[in-house]
Amino acid sequence: MAFTKKPWAEPYRIKVVEPLKTTTLEHRLQCMKEAGWNTFLLHADDVYIDLLTDSGTNAMSDLQWSKMMVGDEAYAGSRSFYTLEEMCRKYYGYKYIVPTHQGRGAENLLSKCTITPGQYVAGNMYFTTTRQHQEIAGGTFVDVIIDEAYKSVSDHPFKGNIDLNKFEKLIKEKGAENVAYITVGAPVNMAGGQPVSMENMKAVSAMAHKYGIKVVLDATRNIENAYFIQQREPGYNNRSVEDINREFCSYSDAATVSAKKDLYVNIGGLVMCNDPDLYDELRSLVVVYEGMPTYGGLAGRDMEAMAQGLIEAVQDETIASRIKQVEYFGKLLQEAGIPIVLPIGGHGVFIDAKKFYSHIPQEQFPAQKLAADIYIECGVRGMERGIVSAGRNKDTGDHYYPELELVRLTIPRRVYTQAHFDVAAYSIIEMYKNRDKARGLKMIYEPKYLRFFQARFEEL
Ligand code: F0G
Repeated sequence: MAFTKKPWAEPYRIKVVEPLKTTTLEHRLQCMKEAGWNTFLLHADDVYIDLLTDSGTNAMSDLQWSKMMVGDEAYAGSRSFYTLEEMCRKYYGYKYIVPTHQGRGAENLLSKCTITPGQYVAGNMYFTTTRQHQEIAGGTFVDVIIDEAYKSVSDHPFKGNIDLNKFEKLIKEKGAENVAYITVGAPVNMAGGQPVSMENMKAVSAMAHKYGIKVVLDATRNIENAYFIQQREPGYNNRSVEDINREFCSYSDAATVSAKKDLYVNIGGLVMCNDPDLYDELRSLVVVYEGMPTYGGLAGRDMEAMAQGLIEAVQDETIASRIKQVEYFGKLLQEAGIPIVLPIGGHGVFIDAKKFYSHIPQEQFPAQKLAADIYIECGVRGMERGIVSAGRNKDTGDHYYPELELVRLTIPRRVYTQAHFDVAAYSIIEMYKNRDKARGLKMIYEPKYLRFFQARFEEL
């Protein structure tokens, strides 16, 4: 192979390994039928390469494991909490830090403390758990992302940006007092891991604050977003990811974080803010749902691993290798003509199921079927991010029909090698040749909340 440019390599080597299991096609077909055509319902032992999520599936470093031993398990006032608090203040810049068991724990607290029933919450595309908590707290989510985000293929470098006109229209229509806050997710998970520019974040912050509306950041993958800013936005190329991340956070009033992503841990979350009154409410409510404000549903050792994970995550070379691995996999598929979301995002490669299975109508769940078929073909597990994930309109009860009908192949951090992605890409490319034969699904069981996790289907 001739090199066309200098290659890159992972900034770590492997010390512990975990064997993978291969299975037969017949076995996987049987497993998928038993799982009701839902990849969430498979037993992980029947999966070969697990690209279901990058959430809690990351490999910790030797230093993180060593920190697990020094975790302080005190019920109150744990030393490990103060270590975590110090690192969060240093790298995110917020004054007040409340740990939670995971991201949705943080969303629950924040939604309950800030939404008055009947209010609206603006945001750049919904995220499943975030919107669910906003709705349970009595809010109505309104999407104000730019239209570009709904196109699976585009050359916009920041498809996650907020459309300021849409945001201002909402404020004028409903009245600023009826908008609880605006959530900025960066990058936007459901749009394919698409980033938000610093310029846009600054403008959103200025507009929101002009009307007295708070800005809440979903900083779950903020470090990935900072890397994209460094790479793509004029004026940021010489700034460190650490520095960019902090500046980005500085335009918000509060943040929720699922530490299971950027922070290289298996469990953990955070809610952070600058307002002492909000902090007071969060601290009061955390004891109801999570635990004392100095552990928030976590073990002391979890907080140690989070603090160390954060230190590692903001290193330029760590984040660069993470994003380049995603890009490597995406390019293999793109170059073979597989319809994927472009630009390639931060945490995974998203296949456009409307194009891949163009003969299956959206109400027959093409992305759900494609995720299942990929598993059956090669043991690679991805997830649906389309009509099933979108759920139903809480007022009319109808399905939402999202523009994007995607299969997400998510890359856990520091877990798989390039060879795993070669194998996965090879099988998907083979499958694409026989795509016309696939049939759609019908839903036979639908749970009330976040249906994509547990819904069951039958092949038509
Ligand atoms: N916000 C974003 C942007 C997320 O991606 C997630 C989780 C959460 C909040 C909720 O955090 O899972 O710790 O409670 N995303 C996972 C995923 C589930 O697979 O994308 P959590």
